[in-house]
Amino acid sequence: MSKSLIVLGSQWGDEGKGKITNYYSERADVVVRYQGGNNAGHTIVFNNQTYKLRSIPSGVFNPNIKNILGHGMVINPKSFLQELQGLKDLGFSCENIYISDRSHVLFDYHIEIDKLNEEALKEKKIGTTKNGIGPAYNDKVARIGIRMCDFISDDFKDVYRFSLLKKNEQIKQMGGKPIDFETSYQEYQKIADEIRPYVCDTIDLLKKERLANKKILFEGAQGALLDIDFGSYPFVTSSNPSSGGALCGSGIGMNHIEEAIGIVKAYTTRVGSGAFPTEFEDEISQTIREKAHEYGTVTKRPRRIGWLDLVALNYSATINGLTGIFLTLIDILSGLKEIKVCTSYLLDDKEIFTIPAKDSDFAKCKPVLKTLAGWDEDLSNVKSFDELPENAKKYIKFIEDYTGVDVIGFSVGADKNQTVIRKEVF
Ligand code: GDP
Ligand code: IMO
Ligand code: MG
Repeated sequence: MSKSLIVLGSQWGDEGKGKITNYYSERADVVVRYQGGNNAGHTIVFNNQTYKLRSIPSGVFNPNIKNILGHGMVINPKSFLQELQGLKDLGFSCENIYISDRSHVLFDYHIEIDKLNEEALKEKKIGTTKNGIGPAYNDKVARIGIRMCDFISDDFKDVYRFSLLKKNEQIKQMGGKPIDFETSYQEYQKIADEIRPYVCDTIDLLKKERLANKKILFEGAQGALLDIDFGSYPFVTSSNPSSGGALCGSGIGMNHIEEAIGIVKAYTTRVGSGAFPTEFEDEISQTIREKAHEYGTVTKRPRRIGWLDLVALNYSATINGLTGIFLTLIDILSGLKEIKVCTSYLLDDKEIFTIPAKDSDFAKCKPVLKTLAGWDEDLSNVKSFDELPENAKKYIKFIEDYTGVDVIGFSVGADKNQTVIRKEVF
């Protein structure tokens, strides 16, 4: 049984990472978020309650699990405290949360700039969640960001004054409303006091946990096809949701990661702009959207719907080194006479089996679809692979044969109990 496991999104996000991370977290000692911020919306359902997490890892409900917000994250401290309070109000102690002193702080000006950037891009907009994620990572890479260690230190006032001065110039230039230093500083100073007890050297913490033979679970946010390096650029997020991000964003070494499990939705969804070859909009996609409630957890936007794209999934398996696939929302496909899967693309009449680098080429790709037979049976109470209808088994087998990666488990409903494990990995 592995000691460390990455759970990551293999598509364009919202694959059910929260549910599966939470499921595996029962066997974990530590859960680490390694990138992204509150652009994530991870839904977890147990004991008839639904929880939606944004920046806090999905192991928070168990007081015995350490939950780390790794340094690869950009953390909006206001949103973090709101989320924390929400959980406390529901009776969770939240004493098990650790924020990296090296993580970057996401301020109001990042949000303002994100909104202004999107407005300026007009029809070319990325369709971001408008949470300031891109501008915060921008500052990190430009080496002008403010990190948690600065935020909670005595230097904060000076660092923030300087930063806000520059950002206000930018905001004004873009037609936005500048932020008042004194008011905003006072507010953030109080917030820093509240956040301070949670901040520590999480690299050292993780090392100690590892040396104590503890089980560590890495929770990806977004998805591999939204990765800044591997995704459908520029319609991506600004971090590395793929498995490499777990190393850079947490401080674990590559020789300490044993499994990378790709969460795969049985069909595909995407929110925001960008190419999406298997997208379709008809009665079937509308049925899927309503049945699965495919509306953004964060932005409430209707999610775009497409068939399962095996070309994209294969690419994802390659770049992430997937050791297993966890298939989610397969219950949603019940009742469809036929189910399509994309096995290659036609780009200018040439058949290709990978994702072109240029988004305009990707947008031109026509999916080559294979039609598989559907099934009528409701899957929501299925407890084993053997109980699946034959055509659902064939669907899973088709995915395995195409990708060469085992489907080690599948999910037949939002509730934690609606989870079937085929191969124990953690
Ligand atoms: P995440 O961002 O990857 O954690 O995914 P989201 O929470 O944004 O979206 C996944 C949605 O599907 C949520 O509403 C989940 O409750 C729900 N969900 C997860 N797994 C299943 C499943 O197997 N079947 C059904 N019907 N819903 C699921
Ligand atoms: P979880 O973790 C789905 C998308 C946005 C947009 C692009 C850039 O719940 O799967 P950003 O705000 O990150 O700069 O937006 O990425 N996006 C997500 N799509 N699920 C998410 O998170 C997402 N987080 C960002 O819609 O296309
Ligand atoms: Mg989500």
